[in-house]
Amino acid sequence: MKIHSIISYSFILALAWGNFSCTPAELSKKASQKLKTGGDYITEKSKLAYESSREALGLKEETPPRSSKPMTISKRVFGQLEDGSKVHEFRLINERGMEVSIIEYGASIRDIIVEDRNGKKENVSLGFDHLQDYVDKSPYFGCIAGRYANRIANGKFSLDGEEFQLATNNGPNHLHGGNLGFDKKVWTGTPLENDLGVSLTYRSPDGEEGYPGNLSCTVVYSLSEDNKLSVAIEAVTDKPTVVNLTNHTYFNLAGEGDPTILDHLLTLPGTTFVATDTTNIPTHLQPVAGTPFDFRSATVVGARIGADHPQLVAGKGYDHTWVVPTGKEGLAHAATLYDTDSGRVLKLFTDQPGVQFYSGNFLDGSLTGVGGNSYPLRSGLCLEPQLYPDSPNHQGEEGWRNCVLRPDETYHHHSVYEFSTK
Ligand code: GLA
Repeated sequence: MKIHSIISYSFILALAWGNFSCTPAELSKKASQKLKTGGDYITEKSKLAYESSREALGLKEETPPRSSKPMTISKRVFGQLEDGSKVHEFRLINERGMEVSIIEYGASIRDIIVEDRNGKKENVSLGFDHLQDYVDKSPYFGCIAGRYANRIANGKFSLDGEEFQLATNNGPNHLHGGNLGFDKKVWTGTPLENDLGVSLTYRSPDGEEGYPGNLSCTVVYSLSEDNKLSVAIEAVTDKPTVVNLTNHTYFNLAGEGDPTILDHLLTLPGTTFVATDTTNIPTHLQPVAGTPFDFRSATVVGARIGADHPQLVAGKGYDHTWVVPTGKEGLAHAATLYDTDSGRVLKLFTDQPGVQFYSGNFLDGSLTGVGGNSYPLRSGLCLEPQLYPDSPNHQGEEGWRNCVLRPDETYHHHSVYEFSTK
């Protein structure tokens, strides 16, 4: 072997040793340790090193050409709370370039960046640039709402004969877990070892916001190469309690900062919706046929929102739960949202019995989002897969799903947000 070959071969071995001296499992463990300590783990770097070493060994042709950039997960400090605790942000980027950012505050999705039909990338979810805005004024942007998402009438429910009184933070009712719900808690995020995703945990102590039982929750956000964002939530308790957890992202498929979602086409396959009183507490299940709540075929959101229908007046627009028709197996189709201008489509699939469609009725232009634009009335809409509101007061009634979690059980929620263009 000539001297220069020996030198270059040793160099390749050293390079390979530096990057690949451990098994893939050890590598991903190392990567997540690095992430935990605040560093960035960029798979692109290790992939390039791998490819250049193969090229030097004459193996280049065996490596399939990369269609685009490899997936990456990065972690940074997003901000610091008054008590000094740090809040991290995780950014997931798949090989097609779709990005999702999640912060530990509220386990919130901060942005979702997807291409339009011409390849233009834009953020399609409402959010803030600064942690303090999430603390002071977020209307639940992107968060995990809980311990019981949506409303509980008069903040009261009884369980196994015991009565519980929760905070009444929404008129006479309890909303999204109370004054300091899960949206206001710092979750602990850890990147997934074998997938493009992040797992966040929060332990809600017994008695927090009036709820019984220590509740340990985990939400796993993961992003597939075909632009599916999966949200999988689990929780366990040490005393009987009530649980309803959902993600509360506001979408605008024309791009965050665009002034309205009223031009989006929405499909909600449900044949019934949960009608409410003027304080948004369920009264009965009502067929959608013949009402402005009929979205069984794609309909422009704004087409009937101003109609003189008592339920639209009560909700100040759409702020209701649609029953999700159950599929044969797997997740059921809950909603499709389509912005004809950009061509972006969002399809929502879930294992939850309802989807709350909230048309951004309380946005009023006073909040400024990530792109520096204000968020006027109806500049974002939410599609929140969940149990029906006020289920704790309807247990055992026909058509209402169990919302009580007992110590030997695990709460499960799985929803998938699938992005595409047409
Ligand atoms: C939910 C509720 C709405 C509103 C928003 C947050 O979707 O149903 O009434 O409270 O959260 O502003």
